Amino acid sequence: MSETVVVSNIYKSFGKVAAVNGLSFEVREGEIVGLLGPNGAGKTTTVRIISTLIKPDKGVVTVSGFNVLTNPKEVRDEIGVVFENANLYEKLTVVDNLQFFGELHGLRAFDLKRKIFEMLELVGLKEKAKDKVATLSKGMKQKLSIAIALVHNPKVLILDEPTSGLDVPSARSLRDMIKRIVKEEKKSAILCTHNMLEAQYLSDRIVLMNRGQKVAEGTPEELEKMSGVENLEEVFLHLIKE
Ligand SMILES: Nc1ncnc2c1ncn2[C@@H]1O[C@H](COP(=O)(O)OP(=O)(O)OP(=O)(O)O)[C@@H](O)[C@H]1O
Ligand SMILES: [Mg+2]
Repeated sequence: MSETVVVSNIYKSFGKVAAVNGLSFEVREGEIVGLLGPNGAGKTTTVRIISTLIKPDKGVVTVSGFNVLTNPKEVRDEIGVVFENANLYEKLTVVDNLQFFGELHGLRAFDLKRKIFEMLELVGLKEKAKDKVATLSKGMKQKLSIAIALVHNPKVLILDEPTSGLDVPSARSLRDMIKRIVKEEKKSAILCTHNMLEAQYLSDRIVLMNRGQKVAEGTPEELEKMSGVENLEEVFLHLIKE
C-alpha cells in the first residue's frame, strides 16, 4: 500500500510555544489515522500544516507526492477539510454553499451540478437543498461541511473534531458516513478527536501526540496490548502520564 500523506519531522512554534516538535507519521491509501492527544498537544496545528493553512518552521509534508510548501495548490486539490467551526455561508442556501466551494475548486457548471446532487444524496440533505444554512441544525451543518469537503473529489479527508457537540444519533450517523465514504471510495483520512469511542470505531491506526510529539502509534488493539490495559481511554491516560 502506498502512502498518501507523509509528515516528516515537522516543527512549528508560536512564540515560545513549541506546538509541533519533531513529528513524523504517514497515512496510507484507504486508511483512517486517528490523531489523538490532550488539549494543546498540537493536533490542530499539525492538520493545519497538512492543509497548507500554515507553514511548518522545519520539516517536510507531502500529500500524494506534492510538497505543501512548493505545491500548495496541488495539495489543496488533493484534500478536503472539515474543521470544527464550519466555514459556511449562513445566509446562502445549502446548494449555493456547495456551488460556491465547487467553483472555488474550478469545477465546471455541468459537472458541478451533478456533483452537488450526488453530495446531497450522500450526506442526506436533499430535502434541505433550498434552505438557508442559518436554519440548519448543528449536525446538518457538519454534514454539509463534509459534503463541501468532498465536492472536488479529494483523495484525503482531514477532520478536526467533526462530531464535537453533536447528539448521539447525529454523531453516529456522521461517523458511519465518514467510514463508508473512506472505505468505499478508497480515500484516506486524518481524524482529530477527543472521543475515544469514535477513535476506536473509525481509526485503522492511531497516532497519539503529547506536547507536539508522537508518544505512541499503532492499531487500537496494539496500543491496548502495549499498555496492558483494556480500552483506548486507559491507553490514552496511561501514555500521556508517562
Ligand atoms: N495561532 C496560534 N498562536 C499562538 N499559539 C498557538 C496558535 N495555534 C496554536 N497555538 C498553541 O500551540 C499549541 C498546540 O495547539 P493546537 O491547537 O495544535 O492543539 P490541539 O492538540 O489541537 O488541542 P485541542 O485538543 O485543544 O484542540 C497550544 O499550546 C496552543 O496554545
Ligand atoms: Mg485542536
